[in-house]
Amino acid sequence: MKSDIIIIDFGSQVTQLIARRVREAGVYCEIMPYHDATLARLAADTAVKGIILSGGPASVADGGPNLPAEFWQTPLPLLGICYGQQLMAHSLGGRVESSPGREFGRASVRVVADSPLLQGVWQQGQDYTVWMSHGDKVTAIPPGFQLVAQSDAAPIALMANENAKRYGVQFHPEVVHTPDGDRLIRNFLFRIAGCQPDWQMANYKDEAIAKLRAQIGSEKVVCGISGGVDSAVTAALLHQAVGDQLHCFFVDNGLLRHNEAAEVMQMLVEQAKLPVEIVDASELFLGRLDGVVEPEEKRKIIGATFIEVFEQACLKFGAAGSIKFLAQGTLYPDVIESVSASGGPSATIKSHHNVGGLPERLRFELVEPLRLLFKDEVRVLGRELGLPASLLGRHPFPGPGLAIRLPGGISREKLALLRAADHEYISALREAGYYDKIWQAFAVLLPVKTVGVMGDGRTYDYACALRAVTSTDGMTADVFPFPPEFLVQLATRIINKVPGINRVTYDITSKPPGTIEWE
Ligand code: XMP
Repeated sequence: MKSDIIIIDFGSQVTQLIARRVREAGVYCEIMPYHDATLARLAADTAVKGIILSGGPASVADGGPNLPAEFWQTPLPLLGICYGQQLMAHSLGGRVESSPGREFGRASVRVVADSPLLQGVWQQGQDYTVWMSHGDKVTAIPPGFQLVAQSDAAPIALMANENAKRYGVQFHPEVVHTPDGDRLIRNFLFRIAGCQPDWQMANYKDEAIAKLRAQIGSEKVVCGISGGVDSAVTAALLHQAVGDQLHCFFVDNGLLRHNEAAEVMQMLVEQAKLPVEIVDASELFLGRLDGVVEPEEKRKIIGATFIEVFEQACLKFGAAGSIKFLAQGTLYPDVIESVSASGGPSATIKSHHNVGGLPERLRFELVEPLRLLFKDEVRVLGRELGLPASLLGRHPFPGPGLAIRLPGGISREKLALLRAADHEYISALREAGYYDKIWQAFAVLLPVKTVGVMGDGRTYDYACALRAVTSTDGMTADVFPFPPEFLVQLATRIINKVPGINRVTYDITSKPPGTIEWE
């Protein structure tokens, strides 16, 4: 895809949200790490109409990430956000100063001049709410720029050089806490950079299919199915592109949910007519996980065993060397996170996603047709491809499965308890109409037994935790606000239906500071 907008990443945790806002506006964009952003590279993509410079944790005053001096010769419209604004000021002759304290949270800005960036959104002389997160601030605007908005802690909250179409904002228009932020970004896209809102999934699908055909030719492709949306959409896209040259394996690792293998096969094979073969390797996985407690070790064992099982399955399907491609449902957030793990700027929190990790001997070439899409875009693509709504609406489920919802040792007994509790929970959500309002919900079996009382007897059983979060991409999450009566009924239901669990808790931690999964 040709990008209309390039976002240069200086490592902010919310850089991806800039890309989300731009794509939601119907404009295709990609994120580029700052060290790749040379003028030559930007000029090579003739479609680019504007550049957004992200925020970042560093300080320009302390030699933070920079752009080559020639970059500033670009004739393209620029929007610098937070660190991006500071770098713009620093590089173009303004001044940036470190402040002793950080300003973090909601703030009010006063508009002191008109600008096309504000047209139809903010008016001169009025105050507006924005989200700030910065230590340094611009204290002198560069030549050619004028002051457009100010706040108490950031005297230059918004600066503009209208002739050169360059804008710098100290606040974060990409986060929802800046209520008008998406409209300001749209002004940059449509009024200033001259973009058109013409990016549509149907076009993306046709382009992706054509590209896959060109890449794969008459070779064979294998694809691992996880039961989740990403691998199913990957498989469906490939099936439309290369038909019978595709073969999919669904590995049952013994860590699936209640009745999951049968349900997934029903949806993919019966309904979507995809060529999926199930491989039951549960004994092997559970045997290797016996006695393992440390979460990263669990992940490593599961990852390595999966590759082994997958390799065996491939050898059965086609002799070594006869399958050229492996398809994976890698998404854009994984790509951006892995770029950072290998030297890009965004700080990596956990090494958990599914990029790479293939042994050399498999010698597959990777096909990753979703690597430029966000999760909700993948769902839209799935609809375009005609996948069943029940499949596309499934909550995300991690590759290591129930292993990362069982802190402590894994046993068949604990897996059975977790499956039963999770099944009751998810059934209750569906019955009450909550399932589709929630990004992800699941039960966790805690590695702790406590005393309870049931009927006339004392119990000494496991506790489980319930998690339900809203999110747009899993990067941040808020706790789903169930009515208390619902939670109370749920606890009763789980304890009555699942002997072995005598206590139910609800996790009220957002992400950050928590993660979504418990491991
Ligand atoms: P955390 O727990 O890091 O999870 O807040 C964020 C999202 O990622 C999912 N997740 C995974 N997905 N393979 C996956 O395909 C994994 O190893 C993995 N670990 C976490 C998690 O379910 C949530 O949606």
